[in-house]
Amino acid sequence: MPRHALLGLPVFVLSGLILFTPAPPVAQAAQAPEQVAQGRLLAQSLCADCHTFGGDRRNDRAPPDFAAVGAMPSTTALSLRVFLKSPHATMPDLVLEEGQIQALSAFILDLGGK
Ligand code: HEC
Repeated sequence: MPRHALLGLPVFVLSGLILFTPAPPVAQAAQAPEQVAQGRLLAQSLCADCHTFGGDRRNDRAPPDFAAVGAMPSTTALSLRVFLKSPHATMPDLVLEEGQIQALSAFILDLGGK
């Protein structure tokens, strides 16, 4: 076997390792920015009468602030979907489309730092 073939072997093995190293998860900005922006617009028109978005709640009986909702450990895209799809005693029955639910939940989770 020619000498240069042996020298190339470690390089080959190393590049294989680099290629097959899993990419780090992109968990930092978990919500797509365009969905967050769309969700903010929707929330401003549909939810802002009652909810605040990372500001102080108007009073103790006011509906929960979205940043606080988003930061709760139990809040996930799934829990928001379930909530927004079910009729709710103290909230008007908002009929939301699938894309609106996704955008609103992205906005709420983003506010909560998820
Ligand atoms: C008429 C007032 C009103 C409007 C408009 C309203 N909400 Fe609410 N919402 C409430 C009240 C009151 C509560 C808390 C009481 C409860 O959870 O039963 C609540 C609770 C919630 C919660 C649950 C928080 C938790 O504790 O899990 C979510 C999520 C939520 N609202 C999202 C929305 C979204 C998204 C919109 C707009 C599309 C919206 N709400 C519009 C009054 C409102």
